[in-house]
Amino acid sequence: MTQRTVVLIKPDGVEKHIVGEIISRFEKAGLRVVALKMVRLTQQILDVWYAHHKDKPFFPSLSAAMMSTPVVAFILEGDGAIQKVFDICGPTDPAEAAPGTIRKDFGVDKPHNVVHRSDSAEAAQKEIGLLFTKEELF
Ligand code: PPS
Repeated sequence: MTQRTVVLIKPDGVEKHIVGEIISRFEKAGLRVVALKMVRLTQQILDVWYAHHKDKPFFPSLSAAMMSTPVVAFILEGDGAIQKVFDICGPTDPAEAAPGTIRKDFGVDKPHNVVHRSDSAEAAQKEIGLLFTKEELF
């Protein structure tokens, strides 16, 4: 089934100068970039984006880190895109990720795991609506 999913290259990924490398991994897996931009996240966006983490002790530091530099946001489209992107990124904790995944190869720990990716089709829809207009989707 053709799906769309959102990836953010987080501030730690942007600062490592691996934007091209990360996008290339998704494209090599057959996924299409259908929207792409840099964006500075705001607290208002993050309150909705991470609503499921709002009561966690790390929410304030997570928000601060995500606003520390602009992030690279893009939408990927393809057959089974959500699972494919999940597999290419690896799990939240880089220590648990397999070699060859983005988070193992470039991540440090849970707060510094280089990329965000949509958890589900519902999350993807919410995230697309939060960051992209209809005109930015190709
Ligand atoms: S968890 O551990 O089950 O809450 O992990 P998860 O639901 O997959 O995602 C947690 C997101 O919060 C970011 N983050 C942290 N997680 C855990 N511990 C600490 N200290 C922490 N700080 C930040 C983590 O990078 C996940 O962000 P996303 O954007 O979802 O990858």
